Amino acid sequence: MTTATVWQPLFERLMAEMDRRSSPDWQAPQVTLDPAIYQAPERFAAERQHLFARLPLCLGHADQLEPGSVLAFELCGVPILMARGRDGTFGVFLNVCRHRGARLVGEQGEVCRKQSLVCPYHGWAYRLDGSLAGVPRAEAFPDLDKGLRGLRRLPSTVRHGLVWAMLDPDAELPEMAAYLGELDRELEAIGIADHRFYRQHAVTRAANWKLIVDAFLEVYHVTRLHAGTIGPFFSDAVAVNDGVGRHVRALIAREDTPEILSLPPQQWSPQQHATLVHFVFPNSIFIYHPDYISHLGLFPNAADQTLFVHTMLIPEKPADEKAEAHWRRSFDLIDDGVFNREDLVICEQIQRGLKSGANDALIVGRLEHNLHRFHASIDAALP
Ligand code: FES
Ligand SMILES: [Fe+2]
Repeated sequence: MTTATVWQPLFERLMAEMDRRSSPDWQAPQVTLDPAIYQAPERFAAERQHLFARLPLCLGHADQLEPGSVLAFELCGVPILMARGRDGTFGVFLNVCRHRGARLVGEQGEVCRKQSLVCPYHGWAYRLDGSLAGVPRAEAFPDLDKGLRGLRRLPSTVRHGLVWAMLDPDAELPEMAAYLGELDRELEAIGIADHRFYRQHAVTRAANWKLIVDAFLEVYHVTRLHAGTIGPFFSDAVAVNDGVGRHVRALIAREDTPEILSLPPQQWSPQQHATLVHFVFPNSIFIYHPDYISHLGLFPNAADQTLFVHTMLIPEKPADEKAEAHWRRSFDLIDDGVFNREDLVICEQIQRGLKSGANDALIVGRLEHNLHRFHASIDAALP
């Protein structure tokens, strides 16, 4: 499949949208959202059970872990351990010792090089493939079958260089190509698998996870909230949006998008000539900037508290100090300047505003129709 086959029809729709409002979103009815969906503990418990424990979640890019290293994170209250053996094989486990349950790897969110994993409590040792390697004073456990006491493995796979896992060890991982649907060939066309890990920043923010998804699904705010940062690169809220199963794709016009008219369609690039966004249900957002990719993973701890994990992927490892300085500046601008100081600040303000009772319904206009798509998919997934 050529690049043009994938992107040309989207760009044609985007050009039509720039000319005149031709997208079906302009026919959409105005909808409202109930503030309770962001606050009620029962609603949060249902989302945990029916979305976060039952669906594959993207935990990041495989390139973050060199062979022979591990990375521990607590995601949605579940202690997770990603491990990459020296042969390059990936495994995702519960970061819980099989003796009496102590946490195996203490460092959180930090890649650590390890030969083996030794529990700090009584020293049971595990290999990076999760198998139990050694038990001090083994004579005290005459009945122990070491083969049965490897780390609890979470269903996981790597597709497009991305690590997908289920937080429930008993859940069944779906076939990822089918799960991603049309987005599968787009991740392929973008070449995300060949990208390299540059940096990750994980931060806990006082906002419901869906408020953060909402913020990345609409472009109505981009030229306004981001007026002092990235706003000037964009047209005022011109995009083509599609529900792709439960996922969402948006191709967003930039000021220089009309330049494609002087290029053959094979050269139309969703990164160079527009901004492509993929939302992968339920909690991942991929933003394709002109020269790098941001992956955002949202992992709620409570109705009003979310771990926001931003991973920056770049086309190749920085070759020298100049390249390193370029990526460092890009990361700081987008992660700190835009996401943390602009989008996430607003999300936290909304969370507090919801509690005030000022709005008994939140109004979603036609430029924000993706929010309707997202919330309708959640409603359909909950009992
Ligand atoms: S709890 Fe890990 S060795 Fe005892
Ligand atoms: Fe934003």
